[in-house]
Amino acid sequence: MRKIFVFDTTLRDGEQSPGVSLNVKEKVAIAKQLAKLGVDCIEAGFPIASEGDFEAVKAIAQSVRGPIIAALARTNEADIRRAWEALQYAEKPRIHTFIATSNIHMVHKLKKTPQEVLKSAVEGVKLAKSFTPDVEFSAEDGFRSDLDFLCEILEAVIEAGATTVNIPDTVGYATPREYGEFIKAVRERVPNIEKAVISVHCHNDLGLAVANTLAALEAGATQVEVAMNGIGERAGNASLEEVVMAIHTRRNYLKMETNITTEEIYRTSRMVSTLTGMPIQHNKAVVGRNAFIHESGIHQDGVLKERETYEIMNPAMIGRGEDNIYLGKHSGRHAFKLQLKTLGYEIEGEALDKAFARFKSLCDKKTKISDEDLIALVDTEVLKGPETYKFSHIHFTSGTNINPTSTIGVVVNGELQEVAACAKGPVEATYQAINNIVGEEIVLEDYIINSLTPGRDAQGEVVVRISYKGRSVTGRGLSVDIIEASARAYLNAINKGINLAKTVQKSQIENSKVEMG
Ligand code: KIV
Ligand code: ZN
Repeated sequence: MRKIFVFDTTLRDGEQSPGVSLNVKEKVAIAKQLAKLGVDCIEAGFPIASEGDFEAVKAIAQSVRGPIIAALARTNEADIRRAWEALQYAEKPRIHTFIATSNIHMVHKLKKTPQEVLKSAVEGVKLAKSFTPDVEFSAEDGFRSDLDFLCEILEAVIEAGATTVNIPDTVGYATPREYGEFIKAVRERVPNIEKAVISVHCHNDLGLAVANTLAALEAGATQVEVAMNGIGERAGNASLEEVVMAIHTRRNYLKMETNITTEEIYRTSRMVSTLTGMPIQHNKAVVGRNAFIHESGIHQDGVLKERETYEIMNPAMIGRGEDNIYLGKHSGRHAFKLQLKTLGYEIEGEALDKAFARFKSLCDKKTKISDEDLIALVDTEVLKGPETYKFSHIHFTSGTNINPTSTIGVVVNGELQEVAACAKGPVEATYQAINNIVGEEIVLEDYIINSLTPGRDAQGEVVVRISYKGRSVTGRGLSVDIIEASARAYLNAINKGINLAKTVQKSQIENSKVEMG
């Protein structure tokens, strides 16, 4: 069995998904869960990109143990120094430096000759190497690069000290056989390739990211760069759960294995979906709601007789057991805390008080609280950033032949404000009332509602995407009352927008200080 290294880029490329912006607390929580999942390397962010990215990489480097922690940097000096500043606290730090090597990128984007690109790559790797022995070099748009030039630059960066070389299909253009052949050609032509790990990073523009990743592994690549739920720039990255479960399920054929604890996949997937506000499509492979549901009578009959007739994976393998109904309104704080611990959450003090209060009010509305409810409650309530606008209460009237009216109570700077508005529907009325409190025109770009669990008393999970001061941000709200969930999601998105604007402003001030000083 050949060991395949899993390099997770959920927090870097994944966070580049439109509308996604995670705060430091959320990123640390995801990184801790990724460590539990057993990934070999966590790409924690791109420190020069923003103050928020820098702080997140630093916090993850300080608090997450086990996997290698990587930070992204272009090959220039400022990027690499900034990456190291954030990364220096890591138990196992890796600088991941990149520059584009395709003609189209060199001519139009970088405006550099191939020789200038090669020089910058070698200098970048040497500088990174002066900070840490673990240096990864990525040839951005590698698959569309001239093969001779790509081999020349890879040989040079390995000579300069790169220990991993990554050949991305940055724009998701490759097809499986040609990508496999491309990787094979690199292996054959780069004379010192044995001194480095070959890594692949595939985007999903043509829906081929996972297939291309597997083809590259069969051609001799050893590291896969993947993101949970396949999130990432544009159509996303190769999905971690699909690549890992393909290797696991077909291990006898592929003769490969990973270090992933597959039972942690579902939990990680839910957490990433909750915190990023990116829902998982129902028919998504491995983690989608329908992934293990058999609908047709013939299939049901087969599965009842012998599961393997229609199931190549068992839901328990990815940690999707039977729903564990556990807590209810008679459960005390101790049982609540203990069950959270079993689910992987160790929370104390104010965070525990907050989560327990939400749990108790949920018990008034729902008799059976499942693990799924608890996880969603903690992910939504405990990891929230600062709240400029805090939900207090809502009251609305709606129905056939009446004008829907919503009255919302929001705490702003410790003071309760109550505003009412009318509109064509109760959600619109609620959002208009919130807009009146915030005093700004906020554009609703997307609105999705789902039931969190089966059953009529299920919590509604609302995910919204809004445009706030020209930036897309997502927000999420939970409640058994779907109008309340809608209000909570909208306020969550607004608060995230405000926090994001503050970090961007802080970075601009810091950057202007750097430029002046
Ligand atoms: O897609 C890409 O080329 C990247 C690199 C920075 C690795 O994300
Ligand atoms: Zn990428």
